[in-house]
Amino acid sequence: MKKLLCACLAALALLPASCAQPVEPDISAYDTAGTAEIPVEILGELEEDVLEDLVEAPKYVALTFDDGPRADTTARLLDGLLERGAAATFFVIGEQIPGNEPLLLRMKAEGHQIGNHTYSHVRLLKAEKDAVVEEIHKTETLLKEVLGDSSFWLRPPYGLIGAERSKLIRTPMIYWSVDPEDWKLLNKDKVVAVLGAVQPGDIILLHDFYSTSVDAALALVDALQAEGYDFVTVEELFRIQEVEPQAGVLYARPDRVRTWG
Ligand code: NI
Repeated sequence: MKKLLCACLAALALLPASCAQPVEPDISAYDTAGTAEIPVEILGELEEDVLEDLVEAPKYVALTFDDGPRADTTARLLDGLLERGAAATFFVIGEQIPGNEPLLLRMKAEGHQIGNHTYSHVRLLKAEKDAVVEEIHKTETLLKEVLGDSSFWLRPPYGLIGAERSKLIRTPMIYWSVDPEDWKLLNKDKVVAVLGAVQPGDIILLHDFYSTSVDAALALVDALQAEGYDFVTVEELFRIQEVEPQAGVLYARPDRVRTWG
């Protein structure tokens, strides 16, 4: 067929020289319409970790820490996260900020997200509406003084706020999808046991207020990184999943809104 085509083109004097050695590759054996597939014999030659990167979709998870900052425990956690190249999100209590400003600056400089956990850890669900606004505004003001203008997302203490009070909130609100109850267990190994429940896209709740939680968090990072997980901030998790978070909505994960029921 090719020879015939060459002959015809040569006869028309369109391809006088190149016809003797056609350079066009024969691509008929490849499926050019679909996704390129790596032949099995090539995959067999690759290192295991390279192979994993090629065949597995990236897995992202967000660690979140409430109730800090606390000088000793938070600093140790930041050291461990930096060492491991893991980002996290810190929902801080306003009362804890004075004296711990350098920790907030460090969080920002090291790529972590900082959010609002009210000024004095109140139950927003039952608080007067004025108190809800004040609790959030006071912490936001302190955060802006230290970190500059930004949107500080809210994690309501105990995850409780309710439909009525949520209408007062001008930022997205973040619940969680994995809760190892670290504040209650106060035991590294028992907290790390939550590992089997973690799925890509999860938001894990921990507290940088407790030394056992810091130990557990770093052990979780090591174990999940070995499974191919990357640790990102909550904001990044939304961006990766292409979800635009809405103000006044409480999210358990970017793809799951927490209902009030
Ligand atoms: Ni809390």
